[in-house]
Amino acid sequence: MENTLYYGDNLDILKRYIPDESVDLVYLDPPFKSDQNYNILFKEQNGSRAASQIRAFEDTWIWTQESEEIYADLVTRGDKVADCLKAFRTFLGTCDMLAYLVMMAPRLVELRRVMKPTASIYLHCDPTASHYLKMLMDAIFGGHNFRREVIWRSGWVSGFKSAAKNWIRNHDVILYYLRDSRETFTFHIPFKPHPPGYKRRGGEGENPAGVPIDDVWIDIYSPAIMSFSREKLGYPTQKPLALLERIIKASSNEGDLVLDPFCGCGTTVIAAQKLNRSWIGIDITHLAINLMKYRLIDTFGDQVKFKIIGEPASLPDARALAQSDPYQFQFWALGLIGARPVEQKKGADRGIDGKIVFQADKPGEFKEVLIQVKAGHTSVAHVRDLRGVVENENAAIGVLISMKNPTKPMRTVAASAGFYESKIWGKKYPKIQLLTIEELLNGKKIEMPPIRQAGATFKRAIRHKAEQGEQLEISLSEEENK
Ligand SMILES: C[S@@+](CC[C@H](N)C(=O)[O-])C[C@H]1O[C@@H](n2cnc3c(N)ncnc32)[C@H](O)[C@@H]1O
Repeated sequence: MENTLYYGDNLDILKRYIPDESVDLVYLDPPFKSDQNYNILFKEQNGSRAASQIRAFEDTWIWTQESEEIYADLVTRGDKVADCLKAFRTFLGTCDMLAYLVMMAPRLVELRRVMKPTASIYLHCDPTASHYLKMLMDAIFGGHNFRREVIWRSGWVSGFKSAAKNWIRNHDVILYYLRDSRETFTFHIPFKPHPPGYKRRGGEGENPAGVPIDDVWIDIYSPAIMSFSREKLGYPTQKPLALLERIIKASSNEGDLVLDPFCGCGTTVIAAQKLNRSWIGIDITHLAINLMKYRLIDTFGDQVKFKIIGEPASLPDARALAQSDPYQFQFWALGLIGARPVEQKKGADRGIDGKIVFQADKPGEFKEVLIQVKAGHTSVAHVRDLRGVVENENAAIGVLISMKNPTKPMRTVAASAGFYESKIWGKKYPKIQLLTIEELLNGKKIEMPPIRQAGATFKRAIRHKAEQGEQLEISLSEEENK
């Protein structure tokens, strides 16, 4: 199967595109029922970050009419999954936790369907819901197919001061199951080196064979909380490459197909690509799909071949997305030009949806291209507003991206804004530019100085091997440790 990123709800994507018994290894890192809205942080060139927090995805589950319908559908199956969900309902009532479990159940059922009889699945979760998820997994996969509960200590805490009267929370849970333990499944025992100076009993000198890794992993640190991690991309729940490499190496072979249905900024697909596996990644936000696209290209250049399904490829597709989900339309449109989304702020830069940062004439001096995306109606007032914001913010260029063609008066106002002049490139660029989605789909670009410094707009993935065991301190907030 070709390497593929799918944009969409994984339940629909699995049903629509992924054949029965086609996948060798599944890793999933779903939202954890942590009742948080995750923000994605982009650091500004001046070091601040408050202005650039974007809601990446919601991890808040509420019992709704939809949950009731999914529940009714699942319990009519009359199988162990139905029994399990009925028991959860009796025990928990119709609370948020039940809503979360009802969301997870049909997805886990679909994942089992697409797994080969020899396949393995790793479900990454945390202690908030791991005990319920294990029961659900037992119901779906059979308790006899449970292999291990891996405890992953995600950070190295030192000097942490908390007001909370509690143990510091510092581990995730990874539930490892087989599709069918009677089949010949893949498991390559991973080894870690002996500590330096280790001598074999009997005094025969150093033993080069190492020791098998057990089910408590304390040697891999989370880039999401390690403030100085070189892997860190700013995606709030980013997992370390070393973690995914360990799982993929142990439970698959070169050429196997690895699937991550909640793939975020794409750690699984990067690890699978590095280890010569085929891969499928699914995510429900265009923000994640864009991050993955850039991460793959930054990490592997033209060595990686993949396709993206679910992104608008034509004007009617774009129109449909604009109508169904204007928020996702914005993410997608910004991705077309490599811009990073910015949170809507009241005040000076209201109405700005994204920005691109480039290095200006002097070393260390950065300028911004501010972008506004309009899915619907546009008018001359929008161009005037954009010009005002560009001037107030002392930005270099403003770009209005629209579905509709700009009118003549809009073009006149844009043209009257003049130019941004780059001395080092010896060029002038129109200060206000109007681009349509159709032009962008046909390859038209913003007129601006080339981006010379990688990472000025997004934190870019670097081409390097994941390092294990970076001994850095983590900074956990009190909130994270309640
Ligand atoms: C915990 S994050 C995964 C992080 C990932 N392991 C990484 O290293 O970046 C969960 C992801 O699942 C996505 N997601 C949530 N619900 C989804 C759904 N129904 N279908 C597909 N993706 C979904 C979110 O957008 C988010 O990116």
